[in-house]
Amino acid sequence: MSDKASTPIYVYEKPVRLWHWINALALVILAVSGYLIAAPPVITDGEASDHFLLGSIRFVHFSAGYILAIGLLGRIYWALVGNRYARQLFAPEVHRRDWWQGVWHEILWYLFLVPEPRKHIGHNPLAGMAMFLFFVLGSLFMIVTGFALYGEGLGQGSWAERGFGWVIPLFGQSQDVHSWHHLGMWYLLLFVLIHVYIVVREQLISRQSMTTTMIDGWRRWKDDRP
Ligand code: HEM
Ligand code: HEM
Repeated sequence: MSDKASTPIYVYEKPVRLWHWINALALVILAVSGYLIAAPPVITDGEASDHFLLGSIRFVHFSAGYILAIGLLGRIYWALVGNRYARQLFAPEVHRRDWWQGVWHEILWYLFLVPEPRKHIGHNPLAGMAMFLFFVLGSLFMIVTGFALYGEGLGQGSWAERGFGWVIPLFGQSQDVHSWHHLGMWYLLLFVLIHVYIVVREQLISRQSMTTTMIDGWRRWKDDRP
């Protein structure tokens, strides 16, 4: 981080920001509808077919599932054509010694064990690592297991069954995939919980803008020191 970076820097381009908020909404909808698929609400009056409640919940889940999957494909495309910060999500710099030192410094900072945070133009190394391990791998896992289950509903010979049917025997049988898919939800929700806490915390006490950067794209600095 050089002195020059005390002037605002354009970091997150419009497609990245748009994707971030659509993806966040899709993930919340997936978690709520997925939870209801696993623990369906009981309706006591009338014929189930008159309500079609679980059918609607599943429809919402599958629609949000498509949005999550297509959104991730779009985000991968943007990593190829966008600016250098657009690539960070998919490429934590694990081969660099100073990157690991940065990870350690961030751990100490998050634990309030160093007095002053560093400035970061893109993601800090710990955030980059967490986003890759939890979000990228986690959502890929949910997409692959989700479309495998979806293929069972669409039926044999459907595109989803042909593309993802191989996943089910890999885990054992259908119920195993359900259980792993369900567990994956808590893995992602753990990320969301920590992510939102850290973002708000860093907006308040770090030396740079945070939440606003994912809204207008600009990283602003609270002091002039490097
Ligand atoms: C389901 C909810 C959410 C998910 C799955 C999520 C996921 C992500 C991901 C994957 C990134 C990396 C972006 C990239 O490099 O393309 C990111 C960055 C970011 N998110 Fe979220 N997010 C969620 C909610 C939120 C909320 C509620 C806020 C604001 C309070 C927020 C603020 C930010 C900010 C400021 C960054 C950039 C952090 C930095 O510059 O290092 N996110 N988020
Ligand atoms: C972050 C992403 C996702 C979350 C949090 C999530 C969550 C869940 C949960 C908790 C369940 C219930 C599992 C059980 O205990 O039986 C479920 C079921 C299911 N999900 Fe997802 N899911 C996600 C992504 C997807 C995607 C991308 C698809 C693809 C279309 C998908 C398709 C399905 C299907 C087909 C079922 C089974 C429905 C049924 O048996 O009626 N999910 N999901």
